[in-house]
Amino acid sequence: MSNYHIKHLEEYYQVYRKSVRNPENFWEEIAEEHFVWRKRWNNVLRWDFTKPEVTWYEGAQLNITENCIDRHLRTRGDKTAILFEPNDPNEQAEHISYQQLYERVNQFANVLKEQGIAKGDRVCIYLPMIPELAISVLACARIGAIHSVVFAGFSSTALATRINDSDCKMVITADGSFRGPKTIDLKSIVDEGLEECPCVETVLVAKRTHATIPMKEGRDKWLQPLLDSADTQCEPEIMNAEDPLFILYTSGSTGKPKGMVHTNAGYMVYTAFTFKNAFQYREDDVYWCTADIGWITGHSYIVYGPLANGATTILFEGVPNYPDWGRFWEVVEKHKVNQFYTAPTAIRALAKENLDFVEKYNLSSLKVLGTVGEPINDEAWHWYDSNIGKKKCPIIDTWWQTETGGIMISPIPYATPTKPTYATLPFPGIQPALMDENGQEIKGNQVDGRLCIKFPWPSMARTIWGNHERYRDTYFSAYKNMYFTGDGALRDEVGYYRITGRVDDVIIVSGHNLGTAPIEDSINEHPAVAESAIVGFPHDIKGNALYGYVILKETGESRDHTNLRIEINQIITEHIGPIAKLDKIQFTRGLPKTRSGKIMRRILRKIAAKDTSNLGDTSTLLNPEVVQDIIDNAL
Ligand code: WT7
Repeated sequence: MSNYHIKHLEEYYQVYRKSVRNPENFWEEIAEEHFVWRKRWNNVLRWDFTKPEVTWYEGAQLNITENCIDRHLRTRGDKTAILFEPNDPNEQAEHISYQQLYERVNQFANVLKEQGIAKGDRVCIYLPMIPELAISVLACARIGAIHSVVFAGFSSTALATRINDSDCKMVITADGSFRGPKTIDLKSIVDEGLEECPCVETVLVAKRTHATIPMKEGRDKWLQPLLDSADTQCEPEIMNAEDPLFILYTSGSTGKPKGMVHTNAGYMVYTAFTFKNAFQYREDDVYWCTADIGWITGHSYIVYGPLANGATTILFEGVPNYPDWGRFWEVVEKHKVNQFYTAPTAIRALAKENLDFVEKYNLSSLKVLGTVGEPINDEAWHWYDSNIGKKKCPIIDTWWQTETGGIMISPIPYATPTKPTYATLPFPGIQPALMDENGQEIKGNQVDGRLCIKFPWPSMARTIWGNHERYRDTYFSAYKNMYFTGDGALRDEVGYYRITGRVDDVIIVSGHNLGTAPIEDSINEHPAVAESAIVGFPHDIKGNALYGYVILKETGESRDHTNLRIEINQIITEHIGPIAKLDKIQFTRGLPKTRSGKIMRRILRKIAAKDTSNLGDTSTLLNPEVVQDIIDNAL
């Protein structure tokens, strides 16, 4: 794999300059090394951000699983590809070698075909973190079916919305899942969701908890017997470079979730390249990303990126605090983990606990520590650096998004000097820009603005499933010829970037991306609610928590507010999932609105953050009198 062995900052700059001076040459060279192409491209890049249209490696043909599995068999057949660490530490870890992965993916792929799935069909995967999750993802890719993994913490309504949006023919799920001390009845969530999904013909059910569950005649099938009788050979489907590989939903600031579409060739090249260089993976290293495959982090840096490099990647079913807060470090010691990648919210939660949970374990195998998902605060950064990395492991604060497919801004370990809370420098090939409110690029250092990317990169999402116009409006209309990220950032005196947070109505709670509109929509379905507005406020573990301002309907009767709060959170749990529950709910008689009827969230955010000394300009408000009332009753 293209590895520049970037050992000094000067080398990074050399590579970076080369990547910007001639991006096509740069990405052509990387694609030429080590990947298996069934047919070579005739054009590296074609792009037009106004349409927007982006085509990488046009004319090329490949199968990503051939690159992630088959190509390693000769040299790494017995090497562990996936190391499954179960929820219960007393259950044996499972080592799946590249040879075994090859056989299991092929069997699964053959089952999909037998069940009528063909190239281009959409398959929804709703599974806990068990080997079948990674294997089913790869099985879809093997036959050219488009996978749509839905995080298994989402509710039945959220699942149904995603299944219907992309017309999935099949759902792959399990009889249940283990999560710390709890057992979750996944299948009943699926059954409930599927009442609204006429497009689903077949449900394959993996056994995990061995719970007795209802199976719907003609629709539901146990997976294992089908796998047992399936052949271990399955020819990979030959895919065009720009054929869709998967859909992954992310929240938007308005409307329903956006099905981001990623394609085969560019995604493969970029995730493989960034995995190798961001983590400085070496042949016998053991790599562990604690994310769930239900998020982009898991797609790119548990499954595709590591496997494309022939790496050993840990798949962890559990949670950080079960059986106790030492679990992560117990696993690091047990499997001698070399690269560890997690989220700031987990670090903050761990940092609150007694250091004995860390000090009991030998963490000397660690070489690189990563974080992703939200800005990492100074305190968490130093805790991670001192107590986990023992000040010897570079911390890579990796900024990227579902839409970008791979890491965009991050230190290169051992080359880029790190700086707490800074994602530092763009990856080779990535051209960030900071923009001002008038659409002008802000040049120079020591500036801040809205973060855009001004040149395409191979793993960028190509569209929103079924809604190209929304894709253009969301990402390419705010600034001419730029991809707009939705984040604010600053650039320091040496050109390092620090991501300051979202500038739109997306709130990152415990690293989960939540749009305010879908939450408000679900609250408004409560019969007693007239209107609502959600904002984020700082929370010491979650990063942000949700604060809801709710106007009740005038019915003349008084309602028990405690019960209403519970009911509102129940509705949110049903529509979205427990991750979107509100920490605080304030009932109010009005919301501050502009003359055009827009809720002025800036004011609500300040009140929620208990920062009311300077509310800024409120003169454009239609109803300035409600502001004091809200302040007086703030929670
Ligand atoms: C949003 C994307 C990329 C995988 C996980 C999240 C925030 C992500 C960082 C970071 C500051 C970060 C941004 C971004 N974010 N990484 N290192 N520092 N903020 O993917 O759910 O698509 O969310 O997460 O706000 O836009 P996602």
